Amino acid sequence: MVLKIVTAFDPFQGYMHERTFDKGGEFMYKILMATDGSEHSEKVTEKTIELAKALKADVTAICVIEGTTSTLLSVAASGSPYLGASKIIEVQEEEAKKILNKTKEVFQKNGLELTTLSPEGNPANVICRTAKEGGFDLIVLGSRGLGKLNELFLGSVSNKVAHTAETSVLIVK
Ligand SMILES: Nc1ncnc2c1ncn2[C@@H]1O[C@H](COP(=O)(O)OP(=O)(O)OP(=O)(O)O)[C@@H](O)[C@H]1O
Ligand SMILES: [Mg+2]
Repeated sequence: MVLKIVTAFDPFQGYMHERTFDKGGEFMYKILMATDGSEHSEKVTEKTIELAKALKADVTAICVIEGTTSTLLSVAASGSPYLGASKIIEVQEEEAKKILNKTKEVFQKNGLELTTLSPEGNPANVICRTAKEGGFDLIVLGSRGLGKLNELFLGSVSNKVAHTAETSVLIVK
């Protein structure tokens, strides 16, 4: 059992950090694991479980819903029938929930708890902001994701997170 509490206001950053303490009253290491449901994400889950066990870390999984802009463009490009904006978000929310529940099951099979988040926005920006504002110690994400251009070493999300995050980043290959 761990105890989850909200610590005092951080005067330097200007926001609240939620921190988990273990039984001995020590701060737990906080990992933000980014997942998009791809095969790479499964490797990310495996690696994060290894780290969580070794470090006794508190893990939060984040699956960012991209919202309407990019989806409308890809729907238009694919020639699929038009879906309304609210329907698009609804479909993405369902998908994110499925991905996160599946990930949570893998954690539970390993005896670990998992907090889940599925905010909307630009994935790289949201991942970096969440890590900073949540006082995370490490972001873990895959080198590639669901994208098709496999000759590139990094996808656009991992590339942008590696370049812009103020938090340390682990890119799983
Ligand atoms: N929407 C998302 N929410 C959370 N994490 C994500 C999301 N998209 C990507 N990631 C994380 O970033 C990693 C790299 O994915 P990325 O999107 O950069 O590669 P890609 O899909 O192959 O390329 P691109 O999207 O540029 O075509 C994924 O393994 C996952 O950890
Ligand atoms: Mg992608």
